[in-house]
Amino acid sequence: MAETRLHPAELILPMFVREGIREPRPIESMPGVVQHTLDSLKAGAAEAAEAGIGGVMLFGVPERRDAIGSGATDPDGILNAGTRAVAAEVGDALVVQTDLCLDEFTDHGHCGVLDARGRVDNDATLLRYRDMALAQAEAGSQILGLSGMMDGQVAAVRDALDTEGLVDTAILAYAAKYASSFYGPFREAVDSQLQGDRRSYQQDPANRREGLREATLDLEEGADILMVKPAMSYLDVLADVAAVSDIPVWAYQISGEYAMIEAAAANGWIDRDRAVLESLTSIRRAGADAVLTYWAVEVAGWLK
Ligand code: PBG
Repeated sequence: MAETRLHPAELILPMFVREGIREPRPIESMPGVVQHTLDSLKAGAAEAAEAGIGGVMLFGVPERRDAIGSGATDPDGILNAGTRAVAAEVGDALVVQTDLCLDEFTDHGHCGVLDARGRVDNDATLLRYRDMALAQAEAGSQILGLSGMMDGQVAAVRDALDTEGLVDTAILAYAAKYASSFYGPFREAVDSQLQGDRRSYQQDPANRREGLREATLDLEEGADILMVKPAMSYLDVLADVAAVSDIPVWAYQISGEYAMIEAAAANGWIDRDRAVLESLTSIRRAGADAVLTYWAVEVAGWLK
């Protein structure tokens, strides 16, 4: 009688690659998740391919940061180097995807560049995103994950790709992305420099209609996939978007969602494996065609 089921191909594993480390480094607030070296990233991606999951979403943690996030557009920057390595290793076996956002690369930790008054400058950021898109596509990324929530980012990146003839690179638009406290552990994962918050560009958790509006704008700008994020506290938004979208809709089960279940399970307060499966099933039930989850490889193993 089950209306919803999970399949490994509909799971995507987010992975972190850190510049200048010799051994993978555990992320304390995300038990079981590490910052990878280039070598362990390749090995992890090979394991993910072996498990039959649909893809990996790569995040870079650079050694040096600056105001404009130069490392993001440097062809030898850690994310682009990691992408090249993973694409060579498993590019035919799963879909190699990259986070397209400046926050890991800026010394102020914001997703965009700042204006003279220290506010995020939306349109100046779009120029950086265009360059970042080309660098990532050239490194072998097959889907660009636009997570910065700048207005017009999908149209800008689509135009940059088309201008360069990069017609095989798809755009995953983090269409409805809320300013959430549940990103907490991710800040440790990418060694975030952020002071303050992202409420001038991410959405107000109080707003449901606005989620649909943001998703519709991204659809019109030429997105190939729409994302709702976080997942579990925003299943209503996910269902709304899934009801109207004629392109795939994905959801991101984010770091805080992962950490909460791991922490409760470590205390013996919930059944870990059942909670993991239930959380993923509910995200799929609400309308996600695929889910980004830090449990992707483990769950794929159970499903086999
Ligand atoms: C921005 C980005 C974030 C996450 C994915 N992309 C952080 C943020 O918006 O603050 C969060 C993912 C997670 O919490 O697991 N580059």
